[in-house]
Amino acid sequence: MIAAAGENEALGKDNDLVWHLPDDFKRFKQLTTGHHIIMGRKTFETFPKLLPNRVHIVITRDRNYTAEGVIIVHTIEEALAKVENDENPFIIGGGKIYTLGMQYADCIELTRVHGDFEADAFFPIINENDWEIVEKEYHEKDDRHAYAFTYLTYERKKQ
Ligand SMILES: NC(=O)c1ccc[n+]([C@@H]2O[C@H](COP(=O)([O-])OP(=O)(O)OC[C@H]3O[C@@H](n4cnc5c(N)ncnc54)[C@H](OP(=O)(O)O)[C@@H]3O)[C@@H](O)[C@H]2O)c1
Repeated sequence: MIAAAGENEALGKDNDLVWHLPDDFKRFKQLTTGHHIIMGRKTFETFPKLLPNRVHIVITRDRNYTAEGVIIVHTIEEALAKVENDENPFIIGGGKIYTLGMQYADCIELTRVHGDFEADAFFPIINENDWEIVEKEYHEKDDRHAYAFTYLTYERKKQ
């Protein structure tokens, strides 16, 4: 999974992000390009257009939902079945879909944005018994980034 969340797990509000962090966007692009990206219908509808060089898989309960250029599925399991040939597919949100995906994920690329934000979508709690941080990189606040943030790579612990 790949996400950016505030310290209070905030992901977004009114179907939009609550920050603009260009270096985080750049990292999202670098990591996901060439791969399948699995998302909820609401997150999909926040995009002005398809993200280039990525196969979009959109999860909805609506059996009549259609959108050009994307694969529509109705469960997270159906989405995961479509990505079996991709060694590094990504679940890209939002809150509902991260919650469904948590049990299946083996890696979480989390950008922890240092602040508390008003939100209506939240990242699920990462259980420290199940996950360990294997990489950590701090990014200072600067004239292009209103908040400091830390890239955290979590891997599922071997049981
Ligand atoms: N900070 C980040 O990294 C990040 C990343 C992505 C998104 N976001 C933000 O997160 C917010 C959107 O998140 P969200 O939680 O509201 O919506 P979401 O997870 O993007 O999509 C929710 C939709 O997914 C479908 N869905 C959910 N559970 C399902 C299930 N069990 N089976 C089948 N379909 C299911 C439903 O679509 P239908 O209603 O069509 O049935 C539901 O309305 C926005 O503010 C967005 O900007 C932030």
